[in-house]
Amino acid sequence: MTKRETDTVQSAFLKQQPVKMLIGGQWVESASGKTFDTINPSTGEVLATVAEGDAEDMNRAVAAARKAFESGPWPRLTPSQRGRLLWKVAELIEKNAEELAELETLDNGKPIKYSRASDVPLTADHFRYFAGWATKLEGDTIPVSIPNMFTYTLREPMGVVGQIIPWNFPLQMASWKLAPALACGNTVILKPAEQTPLTALRLGELICEAGFPEGVVNIVPGFGETAGAALASHPDVDKIAFTGSTEVGKKILQASVGNLKRVTLELGGKSPNIIFPDADMKYAVRGAMNAIFFNQGQVCTAGSRLFVHKSVYDSVLSGLTDNASKMKLGLGIDPNTDLGPLVSQEQLERVTGYIETGKREGAKATTGGERAGNELAKGYFVQPTVFDNVHDDMTLAREEIFGPVVVALPFENLEEVAARANRSIYGLAAGVWTSDVKKVHKMAAALKAGVIWVNTYNMFDAAAPFGGYKQSGYGREMGHAVLDAYTQIKTVWINLR
Ligand code: NAI
Ligand code: MG
Repeated sequence: MTKRETDTVQSAFLKQQPVKMLIGGQWVESASGKTFDTINPSTGEVLATVAEGDAEDMNRAVAAARKAFESGPWPRLTPSQRGRLLWKVAELIEKNAEELAELETLDNGKPIKYSRASDVPLTADHFRYFAGWATKLEGDTIPVSIPNMFTYTLREPMGVVGQIIPWNFPLQMASWKLAPALACGNTVILKPAEQTPLTALRLGELICEAGFPEGVVNIVPGFGETAGAALASHPDVDKIAFTGSTEVGKKILQASVGNLKRVTLELGGKSPNIIFPDADMKYAVRGAMNAIFFNQGQVCTAGSRLFVHKSVYDSVLSGLTDNASKMKLGLGIDPNTDLGPLVSQEQLERVTGYIETGKREGAKATTGGERAGNELAKGYFVQPTVFDNVHDDMTLAREEIFGPVVVALPFENLEEVAARANRSIYGLAAGVWTSDVKKVHKMAAALKAGVIWVNTYNMFDAAAPFGGYKQSGYGREMGHAVLDAYTQIKTVWINLR
Protein backbone atom coordinates (compact mmCIF):
# COMPACT_ATOMS: atom_id res chain seq x y z
CA MET A 1 0.00 0.00 0.00
CA THR A 2 1.52 3.33 -0.98
CA LYS A 3 1.37 6.26 1.40
CA ARG A 4 -0.64 8.37 -0.99
CA GLU A 5 -3.39 5.77 -1.13
CA THR A 6 -4.32 6.12 2.52
CA ASP A 7 -3.44 9.79 2.91
CA THR A 8 -6.63 11.22 1.43
CA VAL A 9 -8.83 9.26 3.74
CA GLN A 10 -6.68 9.54 6.85
CA SER A 11 -6.44 13.30 6.53
CA ALA A 12 -10.12 13.98 6.07
CA PHE A 13 -12.88 11.80 7.39
CA LEU A 14 -11.01 9.39 9.64
CA LYS A 15 -9.29 12.13 11.64
CA GLN A 16 -12.46 12.86 13.61
CA GLN A 17 -12.61 10.44 16.52
CA PRO A 18 -15.09 9.15 17.21
CA VAL A 19 -16.93 9.39 13.90
CA LYS A 20 -20.29 10.87 14.86
CA MET A 21 -23.86 10.03 13.87
CA LEU A 22 -26.30 12.23 11.94
CA ILE A 23 -29.53 13.11 13.76
CA GLY A 24 -31.76 16.05 12.88
CA GLY A 25 -29.08 17.71 10.76
CA GLN A 26 -26.50 17.59 13.58
CA TRP A 27 -23.41 15.39 13.91
CA VAL A 28 -23.64 14.05 17.44
CA GLU A 29 -22.19 11.45 19.79
CA SER A 30 -24.40 8.68 21.08
CA ALA A 31 -26.70 9.45 24.01
CA SER A 32 -24.84 6.84 26.07
CA GLY A 33 -21.42 8.17 25.01
CA LYS A 34 -20.54 4.63 23.88
CA THR A 35 -18.42 3.92 20.81
CA PHE A 36 -17.36 0.85 18.85
CA ASP A 37 -14.41 0.03 16.61
CA THR A 38 -14.64 -0.75 12.94
CA ILE A 39 -11.87 -3.00 11.66
CA ASN A 40 -9.85 -3.05 8.45
CA PRO A 41 -10.39 -6.71 7.48
CA SER A 42 -7.24 -6.78 5.35
CA THR A 43 -5.09 -6.31 8.46
CA GLY A 44 -7.34 -6.95 11.46
CA GLU A 45 -6.42 -3.48 12.76
CA VAL A 46 -8.81 -0.84 14.09
CA LEU A 47 -9.65 1.61 11.33
CA ALA A 48 -11.88 4.02 13.23
CA THR A 49 -13.97 4.44 16.35
CA VAL A 50 -17.61 5.24 15.75
CA ALA A 51 -20.44 6.56 17.94
CA GLU A 52 -22.58 3.57 18.96
CA GLY A 53 -26.27 4.16 18.50
CA ASP A 54 -28.85 2.51 20.73
CA ALA A 55 -32.57 2.75 21.53
CA GLU A 56 -32.29 6.33 22.84
CA ASP A 57 -30.51 7.48 19.68
CA MET A 58 -33.19 5.81 17.58
CA ASN A 59 -35.83 7.69 19.58
CA ARG A 60 -34.06 10.96 18.81
CA ALA A 61 -33.64 10.08 15.13
CA VAL A 62 -37.25 8.96 14.69
CA ALA A 63 -38.46 12.18 16.36
CA ALA A 64 -36.30 14.24 13.98
CA ALA A 65 -37.54 12.29 10.96
CA ARG A 66 -41.17 12.63 12.08
CA LYS A 67 -40.81 16.37 12.54
CA ALA A 68 -39.15 16.74 9.14
CA PHE A 69 -41.89 14.68 7.50
CA GLU A 70 -44.83 16.50 9.05
CA SER A 71 -43.76 20.09 9.29
CA GLY A 72 -40.33 20.81 7.91
CA PRO A 73 -39.55 22.43 4.59
CA TRP A 74 -39.32 18.90 3.11
CA PRO A 75 -43.05 18.24 2.50
CA ARG A 76 -43.33 21.68 0.87
CA LEU A 77 -40.53 21.12 -1.65
CA THR A 78 -41.72 20.65 -5.21
CA PRO A 79 -40.98 17.31 -6.87
CA SER A 80 -38.49 19.12 -9.07
CA GLN A 81 -36.66 20.46 -6.04
CA ARG A 82 -36.54 16.96 -4.51
CA GLY A 83 -35.15 15.62 -7.76
CA ARG A 84 -32.45 18.29 -7.88
CA LEU A 85 -31.27 17.44 -4.36
CA LEU A 86 -30.90 13.78 -5.34
CA TRP A 87 -29.06 14.75 -8.51
CA LYS A 88 -26.73 16.91 -6.43
CA VAL A 89 -25.89 13.92 -4.22
CA ALA A 90 -24.89 11.99 -7.35
CA GLU A 91 -22.59 14.84 -8.37
CA LEU A 92 -21.01 15.03 -4.93
CA ILE A 93 -20.42 11.27 -4.92
CA GLU A 94 -18.57 11.62 -8.23
CA LYS A 95 -16.61 14.61 -6.94
CA ASN A 96 -15.49 12.58 -3.92
CA ALA A 97 -15.26 9.25 -5.73
CA GLU A 98 -11.69 8.37 -4.85
CA GLU A 99 -12.14 9.08 -1.16
CA LEU A 100 -15.36 7.02 -1.05
CA ALA A 101 -13.72 4.14 -2.91
CA GLU A 102 -10.80 4.06 -0.49
CA LEU A 103 -13.04 4.27 2.58
CA GLU A 104 -15.21 1.45 1.21
CA THR A 105 -12.20 -0.74 0.58
CA LEU A 106 -10.56 -0.02 3.94
CA ASP A 107 -13.75 -0.73 5.89
CA ASN A 108 -15.07 -3.71 3.92
CA GLY A 109 -11.88 -5.22 2.48
CA LYS A 110 -13.13 -5.37 -1.12
CA PRO A 111 -10.52 -4.86 -3.86
CA ILE A 112 -10.07 -1.18 -4.65
CA LYS A 113 -10.41 -1.80 -8.38
CA TYR A 114 -14.02 -2.86 -7.80
CA SER A 115 -14.78 -0.02 -5.36
CA ARG A 116 -13.58 2.39 -8.04
CA ALA A 117 -15.15 0.75 -11.08
CA SER A 118 -18.38 -0.55 -9.58
CA ASP A 119 -19.44 0.42 -6.05
CA VAL A 120 -18.95 4.17 -6.28
CA PRO A 121 -20.19 4.79 -9.86
CA LEU A 122 -23.25 2.56 -9.34
CA THR A 123 -24.06 4.44 -6.12
CA ALA A 124 -23.99 7.76 -7.98
CA ASP A 125 -26.05 6.26 -10.78
CA HIS A 126 -28.70 5.13 -8.33
CA PHE A 127 -29.21 8.66 -7.00
CA ARG A 128 -29.35 10.02 -10.54
CA TYR A 129 -31.92 7.45 -11.68
CA PHE A 130 -34.22 8.18 -8.72
CA ALA A 131 -33.76 11.95 -9.09
CA GLY A 132 -35.76 11.45 -12.29
CA TRP A 133 -38.58 9.61 -10.54
CA ALA A 134 -39.32 12.47 -8.12
CA THR A 135 -41.28 14.28 -10.87
CA LYS A 136 -43.06 11.19 -12.20
CA LEU A 137 -45.07 9.82 -9.27
CA GLU A 138 -48.48 9.93 -10.84
CA GLY A 139 -51.87 8.81 -9.65
CA ASP A 140 -54.71 7.60 -11.89
CA THR A 141 -58.19 8.72 -12.78
CA ILE A 142 -60.53 5.80 -12.17
CA PRO A 143 -63.56 5.12 -14.38
CA VAL A 144 -65.89 3.98 -11.58
CA SER A 145 -69.39 2.75 -12.50
CA ILE A 146 -71.24 4.92 -10.04
CA PRO A 147 -72.83 7.92 -11.78
CA ASN A 148 -71.60 11.45 -11.08
CA MET A 149 -68.50 10.34 -9.21
CA PHE A 150 -65.09 11.67 -10.11
CA THR A 151 -62.51 9.32 -8.61
CA TYR A 152 -58.75 9.62 -8.68
CA THR A 153 -55.73 8.34 -6.81
CA LEU A 154 -52.75 10.08 -5.24
CA ARG A 155 -49.42 8.39 -4.67
CA GLU A 156 -48.21 9.60 -1.28
CA PRO A 157 -45.08 8.84 0.74
CA MET A 158 -45.23 6.21 3.52
CA GLY A 159 -43.87 8.62 6.10
CA VAL A 160 -40.96 7.82 8.40
CA VAL A 161 -38.91 4.96 6.99
CA GLY A 162 -36.33 2.83 8.84
CA GLN A 163 -33.67 1.21 6.69
CA ILE A 164 -31.28 -1.49 7.89
CA ILE A 165 -28.47 -2.52 5.57
CA PRO A 166 -25.66 -5.11 5.49
CA TRP A 167 -21.91 -4.86 5.08
CA ASN A 168 -21.27 -6.49 1.69
CA PHE A 169 -21.95 -3.38 -0.46
CA PRO A 170 -22.20 -0.62 2.13
CA LEU A 171 -22.47 2.35 -0.24
CA GLN A 172 -24.63 0.66 -2.84
CA MET A 173 -27.00 -0.70 -0.20
CA ALA A 174 -27.30 2.81 1.26
CA SER A 175 -28.18 4.18 -2.19
CA TRP A 176 -30.69 1.41 -2.96
CA LYS A 177 -32.47 2.36 0.25
CA LEU A 178 -32.10 6.14 0.43
CA ALA A 179 -32.58 7.23 -3.18
CA PRO A 180 -36.07 5.77 -3.84
CA ALA A 181 -37.33 6.59 -0.33
CA LEU A 182 -36.33 10.24 -0.76
CA ALA A 183 -37.56 10.49 -4.35
CA CYS A 184 -40.97 9.46 -2.99
CA GLY A 185 -40.90 12.14 -0.27
CA ASN A 186 -40.30 10.02 2.83
CA THR A 187 -37.92 10.83 5.67
CA VAL A 188 -35.39 8.23 6.69
CA ILE A 189 -33.38 6.68 9.50
CA LEU A 190 -30.61 4.54 8.03
CA LYS A 191 -28.73 2.02 10.16
CA PRO A 192 -25.54 0.85 8.47
CA ALA A 193 -24.00 -2.50 9.41
CA GLU A 194 -21.71 -2.44 12.44
CA GLN A 195 -18.88 -3.95 10.35
CA THR A 196 -18.92 -1.14 7.76
CA PRO A 197 -20.42 2.13 9.01
CA LEU A 198 -17.97 4.58 7.43
CA THR A 199 -19.10 5.21 3.87
CA ALA A 200 -22.75 5.62 4.84
CA LEU A 201 -21.67 8.31 7.33
CA ARG A 202 -19.48 10.02 4.74
CA LEU A 203 -22.45 9.85 2.37
CA GLY A 204 -24.46 11.55 5.13
CA GLU A 205 -22.02 14.47 5.00
CA LEU A 206 -22.53 14.72 1.24
CA ILE A 207 -26.31 14.61 1.71
CA CYS A 208 -26.01 17.55 4.13
CA GLU A 209 -23.74 19.36 1.67
CA ALA A 210 -26.30 18.81 -1.11
CA GLY A 211 -28.78 20.83 0.97
CA PHE A 212 -31.33 18.32 2.24
CA PRO A 213 -33.37 19.89 5.07
CA GLU A 214 -32.44 18.71 8.58
CA GLY A 215 -34.04 15.51 9.81
CA VAL A 216 -34.87 14.19 6.32
CA VAL A 217 -31.92 11.78 6.44
CA ASN A 218 -30.67 10.47 9.78
CA ILE A 219 -27.84 7.96 9.97
CA VAL A 220 -27.41 5.99 13.17
CA PRO A 221 -24.64 3.37 13.29
CA GLY A 222 -24.81 0.61 15.89
CA PHE A 223 -25.37 -3.09 16.42
CA GLY A 224 -28.28 -5.14 15.15
CA GLU A 225 -29.61 -6.47 18.45
CA THR A 226 -29.69 -2.96 19.95
CA ALA A 227 -29.91 -0.12 17.41
CA GLY A 228 -31.42 -2.26 14.64
CA ALA A 229 -33.99 -3.91 16.89
CA ALA A 230 -35.01 -0.53 18.35
CA LEU A 231 -35.63 0.84 14.87
CA ALA A 232 -37.50 -2.26 13.68
CA SER A 233 -39.90 -2.16 16.64
CA HIS A 234 -40.28 1.62 16.94
CA PRO A 235 -43.98 2.59 17.16
CA ASP A 236 -43.51 5.80 15.15
CA VAL A 237 -41.75 4.22 12.17
CA ASP A 238 -44.13 3.59 9.25
CA LYS A 239 -42.02 1.26 7.17
CA ILE A 240 -38.88 -0.86 7.45
CA ALA A 241 -36.72 -1.84 4.51
CA PHE A 242 -34.18 -4.52 5.37
CA THR A 243 -31.37 -6.29 3.56
CA GLY A 244 -29.49 -9.05 5.35
CA SER A 245 -29.88 -12.62 6.56
CA THR A 246 -33.15 -14.54 6.31
CA GLU A 247 -32.90 -15.22 10.04
CA VAL A 248 -32.87 -11.52 10.94
CA GLY A 249 -35.47 -10.78 8.24
CA LYS A 250 -37.94 -12.93 10.19
CA LYS A 251 -37.14 -10.97 13.37
CA ILE A 252 -37.78 -7.71 11.52
CA LEU A 253 -41.17 -8.99 10.46
CA GLN A 254 -42.03 -9.99 14.04
CA ALA A 255 -40.90 -6.60 15.33
CA SER A 256 -43.14 -4.86 12.78
CA VAL A 257 -46.33 -6.32 14.25
CA GLY A 258 -46.72 -3.74 17.05
CA ASN A 259 -47.79 -0.93 14.72
CA LEU A 260 -48.19 -3.00 11.51
CA LYS A 261 -45.26 -1.37 9.75
CA ARG A 262 -44.89 -1.96 6.05
CA VAL A 263 -41.93 -4.27 5.52
CA THR A 264 -39.76 -5.09 2.53
CA LEU A 265 -37.06 -7.75 2.85
CA GLU A 266 -34.12 -8.58 0.64
CA LEU A 267 -32.61 -11.71 2.15
CA GLY A 268 -30.29 -14.61 1.48
CA GLY A 269 -29.83 -16.93 -1.45
CA LYS A 270 -28.29 -20.16 -2.67
CA SER A 271 -28.46 -19.38 -6.32
CA PRO A 272 -28.07 -22.03 -9.03
CA ASN A 273 -25.82 -21.27 -11.99
CA ILE A 274 -26.46 -23.78 -14.77
CA ILE A 275 -24.12 -24.60 -17.66
CA PHE A 276 -25.58 -26.53 -20.61
CA PRO A 277 -23.23 -28.32 -23.02
CA ASP A 278 -24.13 -25.98 -25.90
CA ALA A 279 -22.89 -22.88 -24.01
CA ASP A 280 -19.87 -20.91 -25.15
CA MET A 281 -17.55 -22.52 -22.61
CA LYS A 282 -14.98 -19.76 -22.40
CA TYR A 283 -17.66 -17.29 -21.27
CA ALA A 284 -19.46 -19.85 -19.12
CA VAL A 285 -16.35 -20.60 -17.08
CA ARG A 286 -15.55 -16.91 -16.76
CA GLY A 287 -19.16 -16.29 -15.75
CA ALA A 288 -19.03 -19.04 -13.13
CA MET A 289 -15.92 -17.39 -11.68
CA ASN A 290 -17.57 -13.98 -11.48
CA ALA A 291 -20.77 -15.52 -10.10
CA ILE A 292 -19.04 -16.95 -7.04
CA PHE A 293 -15.83 -14.99 -6.47
CA PHE A 294 -17.00 -11.41 -7.04
CA ASN A 295 -16.85 -9.55 -3.70
CA GLN A 296 -15.26 -12.66 -2.09
CA GLY A 297 -18.56 -14.47 -2.59
CA GLN A 298 -20.25 -12.12 -0.14
CA VAL A 299 -23.11 -11.44 -2.51
CA CYS A 300 -26.74 -12.36 -1.87
CA THR A 301 -26.99 -13.55 -5.49
CA ALA A 302 -23.70 -15.54 -5.46
CA GLY A 303 -23.85 -18.44 -7.91
CA SER A 304 -22.87 -20.89 -5.21
CA ARG A 305 -24.46 -24.01 -6.73
CA LEU A 306 -22.80 -24.61 -10.10
CA PHE A 307 -24.77 -27.18 -12.09
CA VAL A 308 -22.77 -28.47 -15.07
CA HIS A 309 -23.98 -30.90 -17.71
CA LYS A 310 -22.18 -34.22 -17.22
CA SER A 311 -20.74 -34.17 -20.76
CA VAL A 312 -18.74 -31.00 -20.01
CA TYR A 313 -18.41 -31.41 -16.24
CA ASP A 314 -14.75 -32.43 -16.16
CA SER A 315 -13.57 -29.69 -18.49
CA VAL A 316 -15.58 -26.95 -16.74
CA LEU A 317 -14.38 -28.12 -13.35
CA SER A 318 -10.75 -28.11 -14.44
CA GLY A 319 -11.13 -24.65 -16.08
CA LEU A 320 -12.71 -23.27 -12.93
CA THR A 321 -10.12 -24.89 -10.68
CA ASP A 322 -7.30 -23.54 -12.80
CA ASN A 323 -8.68 -19.98 -12.91
CA ALA A 324 -9.53 -19.95 -9.20
CA SER A 325 -6.05 -21.08 -8.22
CA LYS A 326 -4.58 -18.18 -10.20
CA MET A 327 -6.59 -15.45 -8.47
CA LYS A 328 -4.45 -12.92 -6.69
CA LEU A 329 -5.36 -12.64 -3.02
CA GLY A 330 -4.23 -9.40 -1.44
CA LEU A 331 -4.95 -6.33 0.64
CA GLY A 332 -8.09 -4.53 -0.47
CA ILE A 333 -6.16 -1.34 -1.14
CA ASP A 334 -3.69 -3.05 -3.52
CA PRO A 335 -4.85 -2.28 -7.10
CA ASN A 336 -3.69 -5.73 -8.29
CA THR A 337 -5.87 -7.67 -5.84
CA ASP A 338 -8.55 -9.95 -7.33
CA LEU A 339 -9.83 -11.37 -4.05
CA GLY A 340 -9.75 -9.44 -0.77
CA PRO A 341 -10.49 -10.61 2.76
CA LEU A 342 -13.89 -11.53 4.18
CA VAL A 343 -15.46 -8.71 6.13
CA SER A 344 -14.88 -9.91 9.69
CA GLN A 345 -13.50 -12.53 12.04
CA GLU A 346 -17.06 -13.80 12.44
CA GLN A 347 -17.48 -14.32 8.68
CA LEU A 348 -14.05 -15.93 8.50
CA GLU A 349 -15.10 -18.45 11.14
CA ARG A 350 -18.47 -19.02 9.50
CA VAL A 351 -16.97 -19.69 6.06
CA THR A 352 -14.06 -21.86 7.25
CA GLY A 353 -16.59 -23.71 9.41
CA TYR A 354 -18.63 -24.52 6.29
CA ILE A 355 -15.48 -25.67 4.50
CA GLU A 356 -14.66 -28.07 7.35
CA THR A 357 -18.23 -29.37 7.44
CA GLY A 358 -18.06 -29.96 3.69
CA LYS A 359 -14.86 -31.96 3.96
CA ARG A 360 -16.32 -34.00 6.80
CA GLU A 361 -19.40 -34.78 4.71
CA GLY A 362 -17.17 -36.10 1.91
CA ALA A 363 -16.80 -33.14 -0.49
CA LYS A 364 -13.37 -32.72 -2.13
CA ALA A 365 -11.77 -29.32 -2.73
CA THR A 366 -10.13 -29.20 -6.16
CA THR A 367 -8.51 -25.89 -5.18
CA GLY A 368 -8.46 -23.77 -2.03
CA GLY A 369 -10.23 -25.07 1.04
CA GLU A 370 -8.09 -23.19 3.56
CA ARG A 371 -7.61 -19.83 5.19
CA ALA A 372 -4.81 -17.91 3.45
CA GLY A 373 -1.54 -17.81 5.38
CA ASN A 374 1.84 -16.04 5.30
CA GLU A 375 1.68 -12.26 4.92
CA LEU A 376 -2.14 -12.36 4.78
CA ALA A 377 -2.54 -14.28 8.04
CA LYS A 378 -3.54 -11.17 10.02
CA GLY A 379 -6.48 -10.46 7.73
CA TYR A 380 -9.62 -12.54 7.19
CA PHE A 381 -8.58 -14.22 3.93
CA VAL A 382 -10.02 -17.46 2.59
CA GLN A 383 -8.70 -19.10 -0.58
CA PRO A 384 -11.08 -19.31 -3.53
CA THR A 385 -12.51 -22.79 -3.15
CA VAL A 386 -14.14 -25.21 -5.58
CA PHE A 387 -15.79 -28.37 -4.25
CA ASP A 388 -16.32 -31.55 -6.23
CA ASN A 389 -17.93 -34.80 -5.06
CA VAL A 390 -20.93 -33.00 -3.62
CA HIS A 391 -24.57 -34.04 -3.67
CA ASP A 392 -27.66 -31.86 -3.32
CA ASP A 393 -28.39 -32.81 0.29
CA MET A 394 -25.02 -31.84 1.73
CA THR A 395 -24.80 -28.76 3.95
CA LEU A 396 -22.50 -27.09 1.40
CA ALA A 397 -25.15 -27.41 -1.30
CA ARG A 398 -28.07 -26.22 0.84
CA GLU A 399 -26.94 -23.39 3.11
CA GLU A 400 -25.82 -19.89 2.22
CA ILE A 401 -22.08 -19.77 2.83
CA PHE A 402 -21.47 -16.14 1.85
CA GLY A 403 -17.83 -16.70 0.98
CA PRO A 404 -15.64 -17.71 -1.99
CA VAL A 405 -16.87 -21.30 -1.98
CA VAL A 406 -18.68 -22.98 -4.87
CA VAL A 407 -20.01 -26.52 -5.18
CA ALA A 408 -20.00 -28.17 -8.62
CA LEU A 409 -22.89 -30.56 -9.32
CA PRO A 410 -23.27 -32.62 -12.52
CA PHE A 411 -26.69 -32.97 -14.20
CA GLU A 412 -28.17 -34.94 -17.10
CA ASN A 413 -31.14 -33.05 -18.53
CA LEU A 414 -33.15 -29.83 -18.41
CA GLU A 415 -36.17 -31.03 -16.42
CA GLU A 416 -33.96 -32.64 -13.84
CA VAL A 417 -31.72 -29.59 -13.36
CA ALA A 418 -34.66 -27.19 -13.18
CA ALA A 419 -36.22 -29.28 -10.41
CA ARG A 420 -32.95 -29.58 -8.50
CA ALA A 421 -32.21 -25.86 -8.90
CA ASN A 422 -35.62 -25.06 -7.40
CA ARG A 423 -35.16 -27.39 -4.43
CA SER A 424 -34.11 -24.63 -2.04
CA ILE A 425 -35.74 -22.46 0.59
CA TYR A 426 -34.30 -19.51 -1.34
CA GLY A 427 -35.18 -18.02 -4.71
CA LEU A 428 -33.16 -14.90 -5.30
CA ALA A 429 -31.33 -15.38 -8.61
CA ALA A 430 -30.33 -17.99 -11.16
CA GLY A 431 -27.90 -18.18 -14.07
CA VAL A 432 -28.30 -20.12 -17.32
CA TRP A 433 -25.56 -20.66 -19.92
CA THR A 434 -26.69 -21.98 -23.32
CA SER A 435 -26.81 -20.97 -26.98
CA ASP A 436 -30.20 -22.64 -27.51
CA VAL A 437 -33.07 -20.13 -27.45
CA LYS A 438 -35.58 -22.83 -26.50
CA LYS A 439 -33.61 -23.75 -23.39
CA VAL A 440 -33.35 -20.06 -22.50
CA HIS A 441 -37.10 -19.59 -22.42
CA LYS A 442 -37.87 -22.93 -20.80
CA MET A 443 -35.41 -22.27 -18.01
CA ALA A 444 -36.44 -18.63 -17.51
CA ALA A 445 -40.01 -19.86 -17.01
CA ALA A 446 -39.13 -22.88 -14.86
CA LEU A 447 -36.73 -21.31 -12.37
CA LYS A 448 -38.31 -19.97 -9.19
CA ALA A 449 -36.18 -16.89 -8.64
CA GLY A 450 -36.60 -13.13 -8.76
CA VAL A 451 -33.80 -12.61 -11.29
CA ILE A 452 -32.65 -14.83 -14.17
CA TRP A 453 -29.36 -14.10 -15.88
CA VAL A 454 -28.77 -15.76 -19.26
CA ASN A 455 -25.19 -15.93 -20.55
CA THR A 456 -24.24 -13.33 -17.95
CA TYR A 457 -24.30 -13.06 -14.15
CA ASN A 458 -24.49 -10.45 -11.37
CA MET A 459 -25.94 -7.75 -13.61
CA PHE A 460 -27.55 -4.85 -11.75
CA ASP A 461 -28.99 -1.58 -12.99
CA ALA A 462 -30.98 1.08 -11.16
CA ALA A 463 -33.78 0.60 -13.73
CA ALA A 464 -34.14 -3.19 -13.41
CA PRO A 465 -36.30 -4.58 -10.56
CA PHE A 466 -34.51 -6.83 -8.07
CA GLY A 467 -35.77 -9.04 -5.25
CA GLY A 468 -36.55 -12.55 -4.15
CA TYR A 469 -38.98 -15.44 -4.37
CA LYS A 470 -39.61 -17.68 -1.35
CA GLN A 471 -37.40 -17.04 1.70
CA SER A 472 -35.19 -14.66 -0.26
CA GLY A 473 -37.66 -11.99 0.78
CA TYR A 474 -40.44 -9.86 -0.61
CA GLY A 475 -40.89 -6.54 -2.28
CA ARG A 476 -38.69 -5.29 -5.10
CA GLU A 477 -35.93 -2.72 -5.18
CA MET A 478 -34.90 -0.64 -8.19
CA GLY A 479 -36.81 0.33 -11.27
CA HIS A 480 -40.38 1.58 -10.99
CA ALA A 481 -41.17 -1.56 -8.96
CA VAL A 482 -39.60 -0.05 -5.83
CA LEU A 483 -42.00 2.91 -5.90
CA ASP A 484 -44.68 0.59 -4.52
CA ALA A 485 -42.46 0.01 -1.50
CA TYR A 486 -42.12 3.69 -0.64
CA THR A 487 -45.55 5.09 -1.50
CA GLN A 488 -49.14 4.38 -0.57
CA ILE A 489 -52.19 5.01 -2.66
CA LYS A 490 -54.97 7.32 -1.56
CA THR A 491 -58.27 7.17 -3.43
CA VAL A 492 -60.36 10.36 -3.60
CA TRP A 493 -64.09 10.28 -4.44
CA ILE A 494 -65.83 13.51 -5.44
CA ASN A 495 -69.58 13.67 -5.84
CA LEU A 496 -70.26 15.93 -8.83
CA ARG A 497 -74.03 15.86 -8.54
P1 NAI B 1 -27.37 -9.77 9.64
O1 NAI B 1 -28.64 -10.12 8.95
O2 NAI B 1 -27.26 -10.06 11.11
O3 NAI B 1 -27.05 -8.19 9.45
C1 NAI B 1 -27.61 -7.34 8.49
C2 NAI B 1 -28.07 -6.04 9.16
O4 NAI B 1 -29.10 -6.34 10.10
C3 NAI B 1 -26.98 -5.32 9.95
O5 NAI B 1 -27.16 -3.92 9.81
C4 NAI B 1 -27.27 -5.73 11.38
O6 NAI B 1 -26.80 -4.81 12.33
C5 NAI B 1 -28.78 -5.78 11.37
N1 NAI B 1 -29.39 -6.63 12.42
C6 NAI B 1 -28.90 -7.77 12.96
N2 NAI B 1 -29.74 -8.27 13.89
C7 NAI B 1 -30.80 -7.42 13.94
C8 NAI B 1 -32.01 -7.38 14.69
N3 NAI B 1 -32.29 -8.32 15.60
N4 NAI B 1 -32.86 -6.37 14.47
C9 NAI B 1 -32.61 -5.43 13.55
N5 NAI B 1 -31.48 -5.39 12.82
C10 NAI B 1 -30.58 -6.38 12.99
O7 NAI B 1 -26.19 -10.49 8.88
P2 NAI B 1 -24.73 -10.91 9.44
O8 NAI B 1 -24.85 -11.55 10.79
O9 NAI B 1 -23.84 -9.76 9.32
O10 NAI B 1 -24.33 -12.03 8.39
C11 NAI B 1 -24.78 -13.36 8.59
C12 NAI B 1 -25.19 -14.01 7.31
O11 NAI B 1 -26.29 -13.30 6.75
C13 NAI B 1 -24.16 -13.99 6.21
O12 NAI B 1 -23.23 -15.03 6.35
C14 NAI B 1 -25.02 -14.14 4.99
O13 NAI B 1 -25.35 -15.50 4.84
C15 NAI B 1 -26.27 -13.37 5.34
N6 NAI B 1 -26.26 -12.00 4.78
C16 NAI B 1 -26.96 -11.74 3.65
C17 NAI B 1 -26.90 -10.50 3.06
C18 NAI B 1 -27.63 -10.17 1.81
O14 NAI B 1 -27.20 -9.31 1.06
N7 NAI B 1 -28.78 -10.78 1.55
C19 NAI B 1 -26.05 -9.43 3.60
C20 NAI B 1 -25.39 -9.78 4.83
C21 NAI B 1 -25.50 -11.03 5.38
MG1 MG C 1 -15.10 -2.65 9.09
